[in-house]
Amino acid sequence: MIKDDLEKTLVLIKPDALKNSLTGYILSQLSEFHTGLHFAATKIVSVSRMLAEEHYAEHRGKFFYPSLLDYITGCLHYPDEPWKRRVIALVYQGPNAIKKIRDIVGPTNPHEARSQRPGCIRSLGSVIPVEDTSGKVIGYRSDNLIHASASVIDAEREIKLWFMPTDIPPFMRDYPVEVCEEHYYLSDNKICTTHELDSVCLFAPGDLIWESDIEAIRLHLQGLQASCSINAVVAKYLINTNSDSY
Ligand code: GTP
Ligand code: MG
Repeated sequence: MIKDDLEKTLVLIKPDALKNSLTGYILSQLSEFHTGLHFAATKIVSVSRMLAEEHYAEHRGKFFYPSLLDYITGCLHYPDEPWKRRVIALVYQGPNAIKKIRDIVGPTNPHEARSQRPGCIRSLGSVIPVEDTSGKVIGYRSDNLIHASASVIDAEREIKLWFMPTDIPPFMRDYPVEVCEEHYYLSDNKICTTHELDSVCLFAPGDLIWESDIEAIRLHLQGLQASCSINAVVAKYLINTNSDSY
């Protein structure tokens, strides 16, 4: 298999798509028949604040960031039904995967999607006013049903944020991995190598982990600057656990 055949992209079917029962439609639009791409991984995720913040880190500080976190965590569409707050996370693989899926997804803003690319997935989305605490409209939110990675660099960062190496079949995995030789725990938002009361075991000897994750963890342990935050490494290990405080 040549490298181009391994191009991967992360897709998130967002809470508004689940609420409006559009998951089947979206999966059909992204089917192997339509795209020539293959499933490489999938999971149903109850999105923690930590995972949401890391996923949309590039938008930190923008006016729409707080509502974006409420959106992707499902709080906006399921305010009274926390058990329904989910996204479907998928990895697709194949030639030109990123562009192919972004084209079917369409522009970020559903109004623009409808005018510029009628028929794209986001043409079925909504634009919702965002109000401040006094009820004044301070902007508009794009409930656009789906996320898709925008570049090869974004795709690698996002796939490693949502998925562990063992979530992807070995012959579809091309980011470097390493076999862990130590125990690593999360305790009070810090990484440690010995078990403490209330600590969560992240990885144990023999576990297969992303090489970039273990490199980042080693640097954090030494108090040095790493290529990503501790949360960007640990968030995926806390997916669907009860570690809500993280
Ligand atoms: P994603 O696939 O979700 O990352 O969307 P994108 O890559 O098409 O757009 P971008 O990464 O710029 O924005 C991420 C999300 O933030 C979008 O899906 C929107 O929900 C929201 N967003 C982006 N730009 C704006 C904006 O100008 N106003 C508002 N209210 N929301 C925005
Ligand atoms: Mg984006």
